[in-house]
Amino acid sequence: MAFWKPGTEKPRFEEDGEGGIVFMSNNLASSSSSSYGYANIEKQRQRLPVYKYRTEILYLVENHATTIIVGETGSGKTTQIPQYLKEAGWAEGGRVIACTQPRRLAVQAVSARVAEEMGVNLGEEVGYTIRFEDHTTSGVTKVKFLTDGVLIREMMEDPLLTKYSVIMIDEAHERSISTDILLGLLKKVSQSNIVLVIQRRRPELRLIISSATIEAKTMFNFFNPSKKRHAPEGSAPGPKLEPAILSVEGRGFSVKIHYVEEPVSDYIRSVVSTILLINEREPPGDVLVFLTGQEDIETAIKLLEEEAHSNQKNSSGLLPLPLYSGLSRSEQDLIFTPTPRGKRKVILSTNIAETSLTLEGVVYVIDSGFSKQKFYNPISDIESLVVAPISKASARQRSGRAGRVRPGKCYRLYTEDYFLNQMPGEGIPEMQRSNLVSTVIQLKALGIDNILGFDWPAPPSPQAMIRALEVLYSLQILDDDAKLTSPTGFQVAELPLDPMISKMILASSELGCSDEIITIAAVLSIQSVWIIARGVQKEQDEAKLRFAAAEGDHVTFLNVYKGFLDSKKPSQWCYKNFLNYQSMKKVVEIRDQLKRIARRLGITLKSCDRDMEAVRKAVTAGFFANACRLEPHSNGVYKTIRGSEEVYIHPSSVLFRVNPKWVVYQSIVSTERQYMRNVVTINPSWLTEVAPHFYQNRQNAMSF
Ligand code: CDP
Ligand code: MG
Repeated sequence: MAFWKPGTEKPRFEEDGEGGIVFMSNNLASSSSSSYGYANIEKQRQRLPVYKYRTEILYLVENHATTIIVGETGSGKTTQIPQYLKEAGWAEGGRVIACTQPRRLAVQAVSARVAEEMGVNLGEEVGYTIRFEDHTTSGVTKVKFLTDGVLIREMMEDPLLTKYSVIMIDEAHERSISTDILLGLLKKVSQSNIVLVIQRRRPELRLIISSATIEAKTMFNFFNPSKKRHAPEGSAPGPKLEPAILSVEGRGFSVKIHYVEEPVSDYIRSVVSTILLINEREPPGDVLVFLTGQEDIETAIKLLEEEAHSNQKNSSGLLPLPLYSGLSRSEQDLIFTPTPRGKRKVILSTNIAETSLTLEGVVYVIDSGFSKQKFYNPISDIESLVVAPISKASARQRSGRAGRVRPGKCYRLYTEDYFLNQMPGEGIPEMQRSNLVSTVIQLKALGIDNILGFDWPAPPSPQAMIRALEVLYSLQILDDDAKLTSPTGFQVAELPLDPMISKMILASSELGCSDEIITIAAVLSIQSVWIIARGVQKEQDEAKLRFAAAEGDHVTFLNVYKGFLDSKKPSQWCYKNFLNYQSMKKVVEIRDQLKRIARRLGITLKSCDRDMEAVRKAVTAGFFANACRLEPHSNGVYKTIRGSEEVYIHPSSVLFRVNPKWVVYQSIVSTERQYMRNVVTINPSWLTEVAPHFYQNRQNAMSF
């Protein structure tokens, strides 16, 4: 990364000649969301830029199969358009208006806001669904927020999504893999006359594609049917197939951009000093900081707290708040509560605050220039999470967040030269930087066989597709004709999990350890059961040792889960053991749901008591493609069997420094090295046993 040269610890920004911005109102609460009467909410709604376009939006939706709406973040697209549709009658006769979001936290936050605006209880007329959490009431819910992934799952049961009258695919510029899949599928469903199966058409379904940036042209071209595919004369009357485009004019204030003079070497420390700088020099107004993930955010908060201890003056009035997925409800609420008088909220966020959520009161933005991104290399077959530079498009969105209530300032922790000459213009759609195993299963379950020939907004690479097919064949999810196998393939498609986790569950049924494996599956489905605690690493490592199993992390999770169930006061117990209480509750919840699904699939719950060999074998049956071997005489260097890639055990694993000879891992995180997360020891002979096709040509690499 070009600008990652050593530089000054304390960022120096070019001088600001204006001497700061005049503060126009000292009452940030004036535009907040909480505890407002109905009349006040109505007024707030009418002040949003999208309100002026209400009639036009409703007209376009009535007359066009697809309407593309582009508008600045905060203009009211997400919270208002579903309400306009409901007011205009689109939810009458038992129909439902759907609005998708790529992020779970956004689904929860916006649905809560819309329920509040409509004066109804969340879960009734306005509801939401995310994976493992359904807050809707059948027959009552009229406006439903859901993740794009959940909508794809619903399509498996009801391919034409018959209960919905309008589907709004929101945040389309994010180009998440699920959004792209939905765009491809919905184009087929909504443009009735190009759907091959005539009876299955749904000309009455309306689509809204909404986006914060100008990708309207790409979307227009995608949804505009080419001439030769037009319906023959005399076909059923319906809406116009040519999409409508509407641009909602924003009302953002100007934002002054500051760059660092020299590249910074530690962006977290730079963030902290910039916060203090703002607090020292600038008039009131909240600060929004873009960091890459929970770990960064907790570190920055910790540093701010230390600063507050040592130097109370420059940090006085600061109110640091984290914002990342996995926050509890009450933590989320804090983000949206008005800033108390005399205080300055500092929201430290992942890129969720880039466009998905609007935060009132933000006047200063600090942009680290990084975000956590998924990358996939089809050659090594490794998908990993990497802290990588953002695009110019993201940088512009981030700075825009400072101009919401009045003119603002954005502090970019990279140089202007870097921004102008090296930062990539646009991000790459997730479809083109992901492992496609899940995508292929989902599409196969939806009856789409020719995946490369499918009409995608951005086609995936053939190489990645071939890799996915190879793994799926070895997992016995696809047969020789690349069709889903019965029952395995169909069962895997039904489980709302990563296919490797699903396969592990199915294998556990035969190995007699489904009870244990379902617990492991629940733990692997959440981010982490451990709290991220800076400065108490040693104590946390000691706590981990109390549960550590020589077999690895998966078996350790079983010990943690058992301890949690046996504890008399679970929240105190978690605190004492450096475990995240919210995450553990979630594990119990997910486990219950998985048990129900497993029963439906005919998997009997059976415990293997302490036969951990059965458990490790079941894990291997799912994750054999991630097998690695320790390099002889190396200091913890592993090579993947698949691609001979160099990988290491992550320091958070109980096998860190233990370095057993053979392991399989769940996922890879890349920093300066590629680290394996969630690692378990295996016997290499199991690999050829569970996946003979996969490993038959790799005997040399495996010479045990
Ligand atoms: O979707 P878009 O970015 O166009 O805007 P929105 O999310 O509908 O937000 C419209 C307004 O609702 C903004 O002024 C937000 O600050 C406000 N809002 C809020 O106060 N609390 C929420 N939980 C969500 C939105
Ligand atoms: Mg929105």
